[in-house]
Amino acid sequence: MSKLNNPFVIYGYKGAEYFCDREEDTNKLIAALHNERNITLIAPRRVGKTGLIKHVFNRIEQLDPKTKCFYLDIFSTKNLEQMVQLMARTILGRLDSTPQAALRRIQEFFGSLRPTVSFDPLTGLPSVSLDIRPTEEEQTLKRIFEYMRQSGYRCYVAIDEFQQILAYSNKGIEATLRSYIQFLPNVYFIFAGSMQHLMEEMFTSANRPFFQSSQIMLLNNVDQAKYHAFANRFFQPQGRTISEENFAYLYHHVDGITWYIQSILNRIYQYTDHPIDPHFIDQIIRELVNEQEPVFQNYYASLTEIQASLLTAIAKEKIVTSPLSHQFISTYQLKATSSVRTALKALIDRQMVYAKPEGYVVYDRFFALWLTRL
Ligand SMILES: Nc1ncnc2c1ncn2[C@@H]1O[C@H](COP(=O)(O)OP(=O)(O)OP(=O)(O)O)[C@@H](O)[C@H]1O
Ligand SMILES: [Mg+2]
Repeated sequence: MSKLNNPFVIYGYKGAEYFCDREEDTNKLIAALHNERNITLIAPRRVGKTGLIKHVFNRIEQLDPKTKCFYLDIFSTKNLEQMVQLMARTILGRLDSTPQAALRRIQEFFGSLRPTVSFDPLTGLPSVSLDIRPTEEEQTLKRIFEYMRQSGYRCYVAIDEFQQILAYSNKGIEATLRSYIQFLPNVYFIFAGSMQHLMEEMFTSANRPFFQSSQIMLLNNVDQAKYHAFANRFFQPQGRTISEENFAYLYHHVDGITWYIQSILNRIYQYTDHPIDPHFIDQIIRELVNEQEPVFQNYYASLTEIQASLLTAIAKEKIVTSPLSHQFISTYQLKATSSVRTALKALIDRQMVYAKPEGYVVYDRFFALWLTRL
């Protein structure tokens, strides 16, 4: 991979060099997959689930060319058919030694679904789309799994934003998926998701199909000291350092959440000559929050009056343990307890508020900073 102009990546995965720590998490994931265990990876948004999956797959493919890794993000799929199409596009044709062999096997397995195959001019990799009739999604899914099983390769499939399957109207989808995957001796899965409540329920309730079908892994923030060292590795060639104290200030300002830290470090890096002190860090954060102002105004305009007041109050408090207490309600003049309860639920459902074990916080940390200025 060529050298980046800015080593603090804020979109996607750009290689191990730009990836901070997560050594333990990486090893844990690899060990699980290696030992025939599926993994369920849960963390709030922007902590680094997707990055970790890509990092793990990157390492596995380097270590072992006989293992094939597939990453699917099903966030934008609305039903089983779209998910199956995505799976077909991602997986079919990638488990064969030559394009001819790929075409032959695709024909053999999917001939009745009139497959259309195109080849990427750059990578030469095939991309397959199928003609899936309604009611045939499940059969097709089964066939894709069978295609993987017969390939002889060991396959790891990551399904990111997995909780999305709960939004499909297809009945019994969890049970179907579960029944297929448990008979695949050479295919293991990573199920990742950010809706902790939905994910945990799916994988830990005894009456749900996915119960005890995987090892659950809750992903924490990147360790502060490791992150500090990582940051300085890139600032030092610029003739700068960030002190431990100033890094702590930055890290805690955004609760240690990876994406925000990356965004701030990315900006700091851009201003090559500036000493990295708290005043400068504040200035950078202000700049980032200001850029998102139109987005935040939209969010804010979409709230009811009580939701807006409640969200602003939570932002001002940073964290609220008992949002239904008289003290909190009267301090922020939120009126009736019942309407606060309803508003809180709506804000949680819309992922505006996040329920941490210690209390409620505004989910988007930059939005929180914007709200405190109101
Ligand atoms: N260990 C890391 N070191 C450096 N950058 C990272 C690391 N992990 C993630 N990132 C960066 O932080 C950003 C957010 O990470 P990522 O997209 O993996 O989070 P996520 O948990 O999948 O979030 P979402 O739930 O919103 O999909 C990414 O742009 C990625 O480049
Ligand atoms: Mg993600």
